[in-house]
Amino acid sequence: VPTAAPFVPETDDLDKLREAAQCCRGCDLYKEATRTVFGEGPPDAGTVLVGEQPGDIEDRQGRPFVGPAGKLLDRAVADAGLDRSGTYVTNAVKHFKHKPAAPGKRRIHESPNQTEIMACRPWLVAEFSLLHPRAVVALGAVAAKGLLGPSFRVTKQRGIPMPWPESAHHPEDFAGEAHDDAFVLATIHPSAVLRADDRDAAYRGLVDDLRVVAEQLA
Ligand code: URA
Ligand code: SF4
Repeated sequence: VPTAAPFVPETDDLDKLREAAQCCRGCDLYKEATRTVFGEGPPDAGTVLVGEQPGDIEDRQGRPFVGPAGKLLDRAVADAGLDRSGTYVTNAVKHFKHKPAAPGKRRIHESPNQTEIMACRPWLVAEFSLLHPRAVVALGAVAAKGLLGPSFRVTKQRGIPMPWPESAHHPEDFAGEAHDDAFVLATIHPSAVLRADDRDAAYRGLVDDLRVVAEQLA
C-alpha cells in the first residue's frame, strides 16, 4: 500500500519534517504536482486547522491556504474571533491532485481518495506529534476522515467539539499526554463555501462552527 511512512524522519523539529516532505514519494500524487505543501505556523499554536490538500495557487507558491479558499478562511477565522497568527494550518494530503489542464489554464482540483489520504497520514501524525494544540479543526470531509476515520460524516457531526485523540481513527498514532485536554471539531471546507448556492448562509455556518472553537478556548 502507498505510504509516506518511509520518508518521515525521526525528528522533533517541524522545519526538518517540512524539508523531508519535499522528497516524499509515498504515493503517486507527487508526479503531477509542483511541490509538497507542508503545514505552516507557530509550533506552539493553540489551534491547528487541517484542510484537504493544496490548491492550484498553493502548489505554485508552496504554502498552505494562500489562494481564494485561504483568503475566505482568514476572514472566517477573524470573524469568529480566533487569532490567525497563533494558528498552524496544514492539509490532510500534501500534494495537489488535479485534472490535467491545457497550458496556461487553471488546473481543476480533484478530491484525494481514501488510499491517498491514508498514504499521506504519516505526515499529519508526525506534525501532531510535535504540535500541542488545544483545538483541532477539520475543514471538510477529507480532513475529518484523515483525522477521525473513514466513517466520519461531516454533515452530521459538524460544529461539535469531540475529545482528542480518543475518537481518532488510530488513537495510538495521535496519542500523547499533551493532547489530553484537546478537542477536535469538524466543519465545512472554505472551498465548499465558495461553491455553495447560498454563499452567505454557508459562510455563516463556517463562522458559527469556528465561533464554537473560540468559545471553548476562551
Ligand atoms: N484548500 C485546502 O484544503 N488547503 C489549502 O491549502 C488550500 C485550499
Ligand atoms: Fe507523499 Fe503525501 Fe505527496 Fe503522496 S501526497 S507523495 S504521501 S506527501
